[in-house]
Amino acid sequence: MKNFYVTTPIYYVNDAPHIGHSYTTVLADILTRFHKLIGGQAFFLTGTDEHGQKVQQAAFKRQVDPQDHVNEYNLRFKNLWKKMNIEYDYFIRTTDEDHKKFVAECLQKLWDKGEIYAKEYEGWYSVGEERFFSEDELVEGKDPISGRPVEWIKEKNYFFKMGQYQENLIAHIEENPEWILPDFRKNEILGFLKQSLNDLCISRPKARLNWGIPLPFDSEYVTYVWFDALINYVSAVRKRTYPNGDAIWPASYHLIGKDILTTHCVYWPTMLMALEIPLPEHVLAHGWWLTGGSKMSKSSGTGIDPMTYMQDYGVDAFRYFLAREMVVGQDCTFSDDAFKRRINSDLANDLGNVLNRVHRLVLTNFNGKLPHAFKMDAPANELKALAIQVRESVLSGIVQVKLSQIIEDIMSLVRGINRYLEIKAPWKLAKDETATEELSTVLLVAAEAVRLSLCFLSPVIPTKAVEGLLMLGTSCEGKDDLTWGKFQGGELFGEGNPLFPRIEVEKEVPQKKEPKVQNKPLLAADVASAMDLRCAKIIEVNDHPDAESLYVLKVDAGEKEHRTVCSGLKKSYTASELQDRSVLLFANLKPAPLRGVLSMGMLLAGDGEDGKAVLVTPPAEAVIGSRAFFKGLSASDPRELKIKDFDKITLYVKDKIVYYDEKPLEFNDKPVSCNVSNQTAIH
Ligand code: ME8
Ligand code: MG
Repeated sequence: MKNFYVTTPIYYVNDAPHIGHSYTTVLADILTRFHKLIGGQAFFLTGTDEHGQKVQQAAFKRQVDPQDHVNEYNLRFKNLWKKMNIEYDYFIRTTDEDHKKFVAECLQKLWDKGEIYAKEYEGWYSVGEERFFSEDELVEGKDPISGRPVEWIKEKNYFFKMGQYQENLIAHIEENPEWILPDFRKNEILGFLKQSLNDLCISRPKARLNWGIPLPFDSEYVTYVWFDALINYVSAVRKRTYPNGDAIWPASYHLIGKDILTTHCVYWPTMLMALEIPLPEHVLAHGWWLTGGSKMSKSSGTGIDPMTYMQDYGVDAFRYFLAREMVVGQDCTFSDDAFKRRINSDLANDLGNVLNRVHRLVLTNFNGKLPHAFKMDAPANELKALAIQVRESVLSGIVQVKLSQIIEDIMSLVRGINRYLEIKAPWKLAKDETATEELSTVLLVAAEAVRLSLCFLSPVIPTKAVEGLLMLGTSCEGKDDLTWGKFQGGELFGEGNPLFPRIEVEKEVPQKKEPKVQNKPLLAADVASAMDLRCAKIIEVNDHPDAESLYVLKVDAGEKEHRTVCSGLKKSYTASELQDRSVLLFANLKPAPLRGVLSMGMLLAGDGEDGKAVLVTPPAEAVIGSRAFFKGLSASDPRELKIKDFDKITLYVKDKIVYYDEKPLEFNDKPVSCNVSNQTAIH
């Protein structure tokens, strides 16, 4: 198994870390844990970038000495990593003496080789990115990355002869098509390299910036932040080795955000070529976490504080969300709703269900001692085959850093266990005295599959996985525990509590207490008969004041007053696409507060491509306020229904028409449609 050295960017200590920084770091942590779990040697480096104008300005603003400032602020990162259960092997600070010494050595070496020269330079400088931009790179005269102003600077500086490495760099990228990942980022860099590559300004006069590492050959200058910062990846490990003595450099993966692609894929490799140091094996750029459509950032004040999420929902739920939600390479919007939905559906429901069911059944029927398996039937063999297949895709996915995919694969195993339990219904077998052998087999097979799921998830949710495995009376120590067949029967289960409590999604609004009427529970067919599904028209579209994914709509449903309906359609429709549109309103759903706004009913929709909702549409002939019926189902008077009632039935789509139980939904013989594929559920 290959050694694995992974790095994160070293973060600027100008402000508080946010979810973007947490993401790269947890990604590195999970990959490292996976590699260690499967028996490889791994080394994980992170740290802080403590020099430069940006940090100097942050210190100046606080009226403290830069060294005091960085001593204090680097702890914000260290503390966050501790809280997030990040197990880095080393934390580098660019103000470390040893690092400064190595940077000076590198500069001296390049100076001696004639790779560095001095010249007068002028250009547009951005403090935000700590680099010069050419006139063409500016967007509307501003920093193309942060959109902040740039300043024109003219001064003597030192330059690294980067331009002469252009051909070598292009050749390297072409010969190693996976050097830059994902592929489209590689093409971006190759595109950039079509123009001639300039030399790189690597110094700042002390008069302008003194918070940096002095050039060993001109004490009036300090080195430029990137020249100092990038070298951290080598300086941190040059005196360290893996446990068996192997050298750590070159890095297997530099994980970065797409904001620092050029520095890592152009400056860094050419610096290494000049220094005659081997290049890293891969640079992997992930996308941005967005809030309100733009990049979450420290300086724009849009950073979401990871601490709040961990305090409210636990460290492992937070780690899981970051790793599962973002497809490595793509941007991803962070929202409170998405967070709660993901944790509830994947962890509280799917994972929680299988673990609790198996645990409880073994406790109540076998006194907590896992029974032996007897005959493996087709569903048991299917589940086993699924577990083996998931193991393969996890192992190959790690190597390619397809993290969200790996997690999805593991969750498909978890859902497979739930399906297996539904098919075998061990709770029924438990009541049948002649079915003890079958029950034993089901519990052993299901327990083994749960055990494996928890082992696979352990790099992602380390603490909760240990707790879950303890409930099953076991643990995950290494590679051997990742294969099917550890549970043999006879193992003693431990105590247990739900690992991930369900998160309440709606805020309770105090309501007048009404005398409780005992309602008989509704049967599924009664629900469909009692649904008041009405043709309605959207009159007004507004953003929800407090939930990014929601619109607050005013809807005309043929009543005296327009209704307010909250709907999670932001991702799927623009406001103008919704304006005046005719929709199907579930009008007798119990009003519910959604983030503080009372929603009077719900618009029905199906799931289209890329997770976008597709609204259900009444036929053109339908009159506003009229009610739709399921053909062949006798309708009852509408009564208030709860979402729990609605969950009892499944509306689905066949040939673009909405059905319940093979009965099409119609207004006067004209069907209600939804433009999604067959068998899509409507909700
Ligand atoms: O650039 N979404 O430091 P930095 C996803 N010191 N990731 C994000 C993000 C977001 N909205 N915001 C930040 C620097 N990140 C230099 C690096 S390396 C030799 C020197 C993450 O504090 C992402 O990894 O601005 C991004 O590349 C990094 O933080 C930038 O952190
Ligand atoms: Mg930045």
